[in-house]
Amino acid sequence: MRKTRVAILISGGGSNMIALVRAMLADPEHPAEPVLVLSNDPRAKGLELAAELGVPTAAVDHRPFKGDRAAFEAEMMAPLRASGAELLCLAGFMRVLTTGFIETWQGRMLNIHPSILPLFTGLHTHARALEAGMAVHGCTVHEVTPELDAGPILGQAVIPVRPEDSPETLAARLLPVEHLLYPAVLRRFVSGDRRKLALLRAEEPAS
Ligand code: GAR
Repeated sequence: MRKTRVAILISGGGSNMIALVRAMLADPEHPAEPVLVLSNDPRAKGLELAAELGVPTAAVDHRPFKGDRAAFEAEMMAPLRASGAELLCLAGFMRVLTTGFIETWQGRMLNIHPSILPLFTGLHTHARALEAGMAVHGCTVHEVTPELDAGPILGQAVIPVRPEDSPETLAARLLPVEHLLYPAVLRRFVSGDRRKLALLRAEEPAS
């Protein structure tokens, strides 16, 4: 079976990356395979974890490219091309990409964002959901388009907000739900299924 070659871009811990890699490696019939984990931070913990899972890794430090995103991205294209990646999954990749890079990968780049988009694009999503008085919070997997966090939605999962929640507890309860949503959406996307996936019972409210 010919598998779609997937590169995963990370900046830190890489727990979503691990969930994606494990899902692809666990099933011989999976239509995708991980060919590269790429980080903008050479010290990202996720790089070690990916290597432990047998996935090739690369790092392109963004810091020497200060102010020149296009040059940073050109440097990232080298390992991406060498890996033969056909699809990019952003998984906690915390650099804003240029329109040029996004257009190169448009229709072939996914992202997971920790909010129910289109609510709370950008940063500090958990704190902002709490400040807004939301009863539910969640995460979204979407296609990446030049407008930040605004590409077509492919799947969403929700969790209840509890009265005692802080941004930290909310983030901690959401992360395992992200790990369910992202691999499920990736599998559907690679199979050509563009129906939106809704995970509504990923976590039951406390009784
Ligand atoms: C995840 O919560 C992901 O949704 C978020 O960063 C975290 C990365 O965790 N992404 C964004 O905020 C993107 N704007 P991980 O490195 O353990 O997967």
